[in-house]
Amino acid sequence: MKVVIIGQGYVGLNLSIMASNNHKVVGFDINESLVANLNLAKSHIEGITEEDLVRAKSCGYRASSDPGELTDAEIVVISVPTPLDENRQPDMSFIESACMNIAKHCQISALIVNESTSYPGTVRNYIKPLIESNQKVEILHSYAVAPERVDPGNKRWNLENTPRLVSGLDSIATTKAKEFYSEFCVDVIEVTSPEVAEAAKLFENTFRQVNIALVNEFAKVTNKLGISVYETLNAADSKPYGFMKFQPSLGVGGHCIPVDPSYLAHIGRQFGVETRFINLANETNLAMPIYVAQRVRSDLGGKLNGLQILVLGVSYKSDVADVRETPSSILISELKRLGAEVKWHDPVVAHWNNEDSAPIATVDAIVIAQMHQEFLSLPLNRYSNYIFDCTGKFPTQHSL
Ligand SMILES: NC(=O)c1ccc[n+]([C@@H]2O[C@H](COP(=O)([O-])OP(=O)(O)OC[C@H]3O[C@@H](n4cnc5c(N)ncnc54)[C@H](O)[C@@H]3O)[C@@H](O)[C@H]2O)c1
Repeated sequence: MKVVIIGQGYVGLNLSIMASNNHKVVGFDINESLVANLNLAKSHIEGITEEDLVRAKSCGYRASSDPGELTDAEIVVISVPTPLDENRQPDMSFIESACMNIAKHCQISALIVNESTSYPGTVRNYIKPLIESNQKVEILHSYAVAPERVDPGNKRWNLENTPRLVSGLDSIATTKAKEFYSEFCVDVIEVTSPEVAEAAKLFENTFRQVNIALVNEFAKVTNKLGISVYETLNAADSKPYGFMKFQPSLGVGGHCIPVDPSYLAHIGRQFGVETRFINLANETNLAMPIYVAQRVRSDLGGKLNGLQILVLGVSYKSDVADVRETPSSILISELKRLGAEVKWHDPVVAHWNNEDSAPIATVDAIVIAQMHQEFLSLPLNRYSNYIFDCTGKFPTQHSL
């Protein structure tokens, strides 16, 4: 079949590689330089190698910025960003633009699957009506949802072995979607409606966000009590049931954990339910970098004016280059606001905010915001007498 995957980012490119084993896949993306690079087998996604792209190309995969590719598509998958707008409300503009292209260009009846994370009811009440109301000639498509759960950098769980939730607006769509995903996912789970799959995806990430906020709040309490949060969590984790350990951190980042719960809050509000846990978790996690900056200031005598601080690791996750929504951004701004001269070092990210990663040099303080594997062997104590660790992986008396 001809499969067009709209959006060739973390989600869409991984899917394209897998689907190209069985289908003629076109990866459609509005970013022309990204498309050109993909066609040269140059990957922008960790975990996808040149060999993967060469192999996919030999099976017929190609990238394109031409929406005309949708004309004869039999399966279309939407995997475009679903961020928040300036008011932290769902920004549906990318899905909207994908739908407009489908409405305008798809000429045969296709299976339309949404993989972009969004609120329950998106496929039924947003995507389908938007496509149908913008078609010049009526073409009846089938609609389904199959939320992606990829965890970038996770060596154990990947697109293939992570169970996939699937549901269509009708039984034909469900059957077609199950057939498609069963080709490369070992466990495809059918749920009774797209809304269940959409809500489950949001709840998974909300669960993480709320528990991360809870443990971050707990770390503030243990710090005041003068006990180690890590030892206390390990002690609690010895209970063989009813407890799941989350690590304290500088906060949450990436495209999912800081964003998806607000999609759940949005639909809750539309139905008159105020999701107070989500709001509180957002607030708590967003305040962590401020808390860390204040701890550093207090440890260093109450003033940061003129002190040189190096922030180590600025991506939101260990050994991943993704800096979207990274809490390091707030940390750096806050340290600067408090008067420090701040540089950052992150060879995994290398370039960020129009700056290159600074070399490690002697400074007044180092804040380990994110621990990449290669930092573990660095002799950090040689560069500063004061090291604050937000990761629980560096032995120092200054930590969360
Ligand atoms: N990254 C993750 O770990 C992850 C995990 C699960 C779910 N998701 C969800 O999957 C969706 C995609 O996320 P991602 O991380 O792949 O995003 P991404 O930013 O890595 O990639 C999105 C791609 O879509 C392209 N794009 C934007 N608008 C387009 C349009 N109208 N037509 C064609 N291409 C367009 C962009 O140029 C970009 O290359 C989001 O809803 C996200 O929440 C992401």
